[in-house]
Amino acid sequence: MTPSISDLLDFAISITEAAGKGTLDYYQTDIAVETKSDASPVTIADKEAEQFIRNAIQSRFPDHQIIGEEYSDKITSSPYKWIIDPIDGTKSFIAGVPFYSNLVGLEFEGEIIVGIANFPALKEMVYAGKGLGAWFNSKPAKVGSVTEISKARIMVTDFRDFEKREAWKTFKPILDCCRFHRTWGDAYGHAMVATGRAEIALDPFMNPWDCAPFGIILKEAGGFFTDWNGNDTIYGPNAVSSNPELREKVLTCLKD
Ligand code: IPD
Ligand code: CA
Ligand code: CA
Repeated sequence: MTPSISDLLDFAISITEAAGKGTLDYYQTDIAVETKSDASPVTIADKEAEQFIRNAIQSRFPDHQIIGEEYSDKITSSPYKWIIDPIDGTKSFIAGVPFYSNLVGLEFEGEIIVGIANFPALKEMVYAGKGLGAWFNSKPAKVGSVTEISKARIMVTDFRDFEKREAWKTFKPILDCCRFHRTWGDAYGHAMVATGRAEIALDPFMNPWDCAPFGIILKEAGGFFTDWNGNDTIYGPNAVSSNPELREKVLTCLKD
């Protein structure tokens, strides 16, 4: 029997929450850090969390496809594809800073239908299912209503990434005129936009697992999450989230 989106959402929430609890066992401990070939850090907590989520999916939905940051892709002919970032914000996690998350998205026939962004150290979860709304813990999540970039709070992850992507010139005018900016970035920036606590989140370096839950979360929260050309995809090299009023203004600044 085909599972309902509601059942898939409940399942995704429970496995992401459990994986997040596991990461707390290592949070603010003297955990060993390995460096991956792309120079980014990884820990046993990232690996165990991804393994846990993969095992749970494998037992419940053995034919589903799985893509995750730390292990090889499981490709099948199923229309369902789970996309996992076991710890987003590993740099925050290692530093003992609570803005890290566990991200899970579920694609059905190429469209994300379920998305979870769990922040275990903050006890915050932002999640959505297609047609089921977006939620911030047990309350509805909704983007804010600011209409001018000059009144927007902008979240980014790392200023040097804008230089690396030769996007500094694109970003500087937005930065100069926004209300204020903070580096409450990684997934937390997009979660803040989805919950009306910030108006714009920008990241010039994204992978599908960094983006997976946010298209559906922002859509169901009344906003948008796209690449910098406005494409509704999790496979772009970069990402922006905002409310509908700011959408064109931000995209006009960001488009190639
Ligand atoms: C990173 C975050 C960050 C993005 C980086 C990613 P990680 O993920 O998503 O916001 O700018 O490109 O690598 O390594 O902490 O899972
Ligand atoms: Ca990530
Ligand atoms: Ca990660």
